[in-house]
Amino acid sequence: MNLYKTIETMLNSDKPHISMHVPGHKNNAIGYLSMLDARFDMTEIDGLDDLHEPEGVLEDINMNLSLKYPGYTAQMMVNGTTNGILSAVFSLKELTDRFIVVGDGHKSVYHAIRLSGVHYTEIAYADLNGFDTASGDTFIVTYPAYTGDLMDIEQLISLAHEHGARVITDEAHGAHFDIAPGFPASSMAYGSDITIQSYHKMLPALTMASVIFTKSISVHREVMKYINWFETSSPSYLVMLSIESAHEFYKTYHPESFFSKRTRLIEALRRESIIVSEKADPAKIMLSHPEFSAYELAKVLTKEHHIHHEMVTDAGVLWCLPLFHRGDRYPYENLLKRIGELRLGSNQPADDDSIPPVTGVEQLRGRVCRRTIVPYPPGVPMIHEGETFSREHIKRITHNMYNHVRMEGIGHNIEYYKNEEN
Ligand SMILES: Cc1ncc(COP(=O)(O)O)c(C=O)c1O
Repeated sequence: MNLYKTIETMLNSDKPHISMHVPGHKNNAIGYLSMLDARFDMTEIDGLDDLHEPEGVLEDINMNLSLKYPGYTAQMMVNGTTNGILSAVFSLKELTDRFIVVGDGHKSVYHAIRLSGVHYTEIAYADLNGFDTASGDTFIVTYPAYTGDLMDIEQLISLAHEHGARVITDEAHGAHFDIAPGFPASSMAYGSDITIQSYHKMLPALTMASVIFTKSISVHREVMKYINWFETSSPSYLVMLSIESAHEFYKTYHPESFFSKRTRLIEALRRESIIVSEKADPAKIMLSHPEFSAYELAKVLTKEHHIHHEMVTDAGVLWCLPLFHRGDRYPYENLLKRIGELRLGSNQPADDDSIPPVTGVEQLRGRVCRRTIVPYPPGVPMIHEGETFSREHIKRITHNMYNHVRMEGIGHNIEYYKNEEN
């Protein structure tokens, strides 16, 4: 297998790949990344700058990014929001007695917690009312959820701040928030202490392009120390250029074509009897069908029509919509044409001839998990290292694997116990 040929075939086949997933440039159909040129792949030479101690052209980009939410200091990152979450947790660990993970946390949150050895607890968002908050607490919250659902972030931040506690917001999926009327507000509109956004997910930037925003300058200084520890010492100028470009896109965005194309798209899906669940984030929709499972629907969309989703779970097929704009190159009419050809009602999805063999999982019941199990996407751990596999875990793992959901860590656990028995 050759990576170049694999991707080239996907993009240039008779029925080219249509992206409803990240990155937000959708195969360079949205935004202005065509200006990138391999010659621009530079390093910290005279005339350029050092991302870990920026004082020239990279500092100018950071200053420009900081204007997104006055009062915040921004720092570009080239190792994704993962790098920002690690740095945020480490930067607050001296000020924090207890980290509180609210709802589903991405695996990077747990990696940060384990690496730093801090004390932590988990709580469901619904249980926050009446929660005994103290000034030594730092909440870590994912906003928005992967699916585009929102919680009342304003309430959470005021609850924390009333008690002198802090909030780290994992806003990986919300770099486009506040881009225009009709889009939700960022946690920074409500005073989140640290917010980290993946520019690459919903805005047109290259994969790994992220930005960390910090409210307090002393915390920013501490964050910079850890970014220096965790981030590559050779930041990609192409990724940084893509952040600059995506930020310009953000500042000048007009949403008219987004909303009109979104409406036509939803109507086209509904004509095919697809149930479209609209999310609080208008750039996310969840598809399901009255007669087929989400996995069957996903299979027809991808295998037969080459329309590729972001995620599929029991709840449906998640699409990340392009931020359509005047002059974009997204194959929108082609997409509508393929949707019009779905005819799902009369065309039962073919029987699955490629059901993966799910072997070795049952033997894990009652054993200690040796490596955290993470369905990917969404990247939220299902069972942590050190916990015991229950019947319910085994059932969920088998169900996911049967439906081709990637389960990070499962192979390691199965191998570990197989070797132990031999
Ligand atoms: C909720 C959430 N947080 C953090 C991350 C990590 O972001 P990145 O890929 O930019 O490192 C992801 C990635 O999927 C995510 O979904």
